[in-house]
Amino acid sequence: MNYADFLEQVAIDLREAVGDSRAINALSGGVDSAVVTVLGHRALGDRLKTIFVDNGLMREGEPERVVSTFGEMGIPVERIDARAEFLDALAGRTDPEEKRRVVTESFYQGVFGRVVRESGARSLLHGTILTDIEETLAGIKRQHNILVQLGIDPEQEYGYQVLEPLQTLRKDEVRALARHLGMGAELAERIPFPGPGLATRIVGEVTPERLATIRAATAIVEEELATSGAFQYLAVLLEDKATGIRAGCREFGQIIVVRCVDSRDAREATAVELPWPKLQQICGRITELPGVNRCLYDLTPKPPATIEYV
Ligand code: XMP
Repeated sequence: MNYADFLEQVAIDLREAVGDSRAINALSGGVDSAVVTVLGHRALGDRLKTIFVDNGLMREGEPERVVSTFGEMGIPVERIDARAEFLDALAGRTDPEEKRRVVTESFYQGVFGRVVRESGARSLLHGTILTDIEETLAGIKRQHNILVQLGIDPEQEYGYQVLEPLQTLRKDEVRALARHLGMGAELAERIPFPGPGLATRIVGEVTPERLATIRAATAIVEEELATSGAFQYLAVLLEDKATGIRAGCREFGQIIVVRCVDSRDAREATAVELPWPKLQQICGRITELPGVNRCLYDLTPKPPATIEYV
């Protein structure tokens, strides 16, 4: 692909679609929405408003990091604190599709819909990529960012049009585009992180306590595997519990699964053969977390597993 031509065409298309009106986009912290933000600002300048919805499902330090990284690039990002709204909507829910649906609705019909209406924007830029579309159409997963492909008319439903400039690209092409745009490795090589955030890594109910556990475990796994070169690595909190021993007493504790996979574009994936000492180091740190007494490493490829657990 010729990235210069691609960018020029995207800029032309975006300017034509947005016209004199205003556009808005939401950053998630992942590479897809980051690339959309940069190319959107290049094409539209201050006609594009970028927000970051803090849904309470983000990784440790993520909201602050996102706002400051883009600020340094001269792109203002408004942080919107919607943590209580998302957590209230998720309370008591355990079904995976139900949890995804609730996050989708809290985002589109809830906070983002409100922000869009207040902003007067008529267009929403979104970082949907080709894999999202294919997997949703194949019925593998309901992606939260795929209204158009699902036949939902966002203009009618939410009052704005959705523009998806990356919808012909796969993840490796998005990363190459990010490098072409001059974005640093910190952004361009970022491992994928799903829109519904840590809710996809908590099997069962999402509560503030369970979020705190998975957030801490995620920070450990990301720190330990940062130099692994793997496509994606993550922690998952299971709903099951297991008996263990802590301070000489039996404890019915939580179980964390560590997943580290290689993949080209997330359609298929294989578990990485991590060195045993690295796995032991991760296991040791994770089982120091309060209430966590087991740590498992997942060997399952995709298919039949998916990368995330929810
Ligand atoms: P799965 O779990 O289906 O995930 O094998 C494939 C890739 O997609 C990411 N993922 C998502 N990304 N919104 C996103 O933007 C989502 O709802 C979503 N669900 C999964 C996942 O992290 C993996 O890289």
